[in-house]
Amino acid sequence: MMKSAEVLRLEQVFKSFRATLRGGPPIQILEGIDLSLERSTSIAITGNSGSGKSTLLQISAGLMQCDSGRVWFEEQEISALGDDKLSQLRSHSMGFIFQNSLLLDDFTALENVQIPSMIAGKSEKQAKNLAMEMLTTVGMQDRLHHTSDQLSGGERQRVAIARALVNNPSVIFADEPTGSLDEQNASLVEDLLFSLVQQQQVALMLITHNYSFAQRCDVVYHLHDRKVEVSS
Ligand SMILES: Nc1ncnc2c1ncn2[C@@H]1O[C@H](COP(=O)(O)OP(=O)(O)OP(=O)(O)O)[C@@H](O)[C@H]1O
Ligand SMILES: [Mg+2]
Repeated sequence: MMKSAEVLRLEQVFKSFRATLRGGPPIQILEGIDLSLERSTSIAITGNSGSGKSTLLQISAGLMQCDSGRVWFEEQEISALGDDKLSQLRSHSMGFIFQNSLLLDDFTALENVQIPSMIAGKSEKQAKNLAMEMLTTVGMQDRLHHTSDQLSGGERQRVAIARALVNNPSVIFADEPTGSLDEQNASLVEDLLFSLVQQQQVALMLITHNYSFAQRCDVVYHLHDRKVEVSS
């Protein structure tokens, strides 16, 4: 069971992938992962390339099933939920930011932020107002009507942050959100993410290779040899 402050909990999660299409022994990626994330706190996951960080994040968000073990999200065991319930939970309670966050191509920045809250049940007008508010918060108020190809990489990530936060999720899953940005944009996006997470009291699971970015989180987990350990 979950503790009262927990929003996410992993218990003894195991995950392997098939080595080849033709079979052969599976490759073990995660081996008995225990992990906990509390409301309004942040954890970083660090580890070498290929160590399983993205796999761990996807299992935590119910985007991928684990072989065994349990994942709880807000009192629900998501490792046991069906697809419909899962996508509903994702739309209401989770926000995602990836290294190259894909915005909907032919849609404007405003529409990209508006659509998720319409999917979550807001009226078009409410969603539009919310989206404008969020885009203003991330400093994109002068780019509302630009489509994704008319935005720079840093601007796209700011739209992605607005989109991830617009439904007031309880957890943001961020996989290398600054990984493809230059130093200046990376630090802007980093500051923005932490200030919004604090402002909206969201929990954050952050994957990053950047040591100082990771250190800003409350707890840093290091993934190594298929296991996590808390590093300081
Ligand atoms: N769908 C899949 N099928 C088979 N193997 C996979 C699959 N997804 C990931 N892997 C393998 O699992 C391992 C962990 O992948 P993962 O993407 O979780 O690593 P990562 O720590 O996020 O790496 P990076 O820092 O490069 O993003 C890798 O060796 C990868 O090749
Ligand atoms: Mg990865």
